[in-house]
Amino acid sequence: MTSHPLRIVAVSAPYVWDVVESVNRIGREPVCVDNFGNAEPDLPNLVDESTISDRSVEFVIGPGSPNGRHATSVAVHASGWSNPVSLIDSTSTVAGSVDVQHGVYVNAGVVVGAQAKIGCFANLNRSSTVGHHTEVGDFVHVGPGASIAGGITIGPGAFIGAGATVLPNRTIGAGAIVGAGAVVTKDIEPFTVVVGVPARVLKTVEEWDTTCPYCATS
Ligand SMILES: CC(C)(COP(=O)(O)OP(=O)(O)OC[C@H]1O[C@@H](n2cnc3c(N)ncnc32)[C@H](O)[C@@H]1OP(=O)(O)O)[C@@H](O)C(=O)NCCC(=O)NCCS
Repeated sequence: MTSHPLRIVAVSAPYVWDVVESVNRIGREPVCVDNFGNAEPDLPNLVDESTISDRSVEFVIGPGSPNGRHATSVAVHASGWSNPVSLIDSTSTVAGSVDVQHGVYVNAGVVVGAQAKIGCFANLNRSSTVGHHTEVGDFVHVGPGASIAGGITIGPGAFIGAGATVLPNRTIGAGAIVGAGAVVTKDIEPFTVVVGVPARVLKTVEEWDTTCPYCATS
């Protein structure tokens, strides 16, 4: 076994390569754990989940989307993985006062302001920014280059598209989807898709259970 490994569980989506790079940058050894049997074979230290008996080791998860991260968290919780940790890329800047929950992934070049809160298994993608006192809910995905101002509440499971902007003090409902490049000037209802500048409602999407399985049983 490699020294100071960090397991990456659920590695079938290409986004896992970003996670691998972040694990490398913090000086740990990525060990990719395939629990679906369809991972790219050249992922580093690829092992099949069935070969791992000690599931109390630290792990992060691979997918980027809210649904993907939620489904993975439910699956790994059910199969005994007990120790989700957060991965903060070494090129990101996360204020010391930020409250980071378990399972969070902060990708390269992200900036998070003072007193923000990042919920369980949330994913802040490349070069996005999250302002002071903003609350990012569980399983939220903030897309590459998105700009989330201060004092915002983003409900669990919401998806913020690449390059979107959210103006200060707005609320984005659970499971809402903000299209790429949108500018959000008003509160967004849960499970609603908005696009454009200013953002307008395009449609609604089916509700899903955004509960963190680790918090639900703790
Ligand atoms: C908003 C979004 C989820 C809608 O996806 P969809 O339901 O498949 O929507 P469609 O592609 O069918 O488009 C429906 C309409 O919305 C428009 N539209 C879609 N996305 C838009 C966007 N981001 N901005 C403005 N208009 C958009 C389409 O042009 C289309 O308009 P029309 O009916 O007049 O032709 C998607 O387009 C999007 O922006 N996803 C974000 C992708 C992203 O940022 N990924 C980050 C990867 S990490």
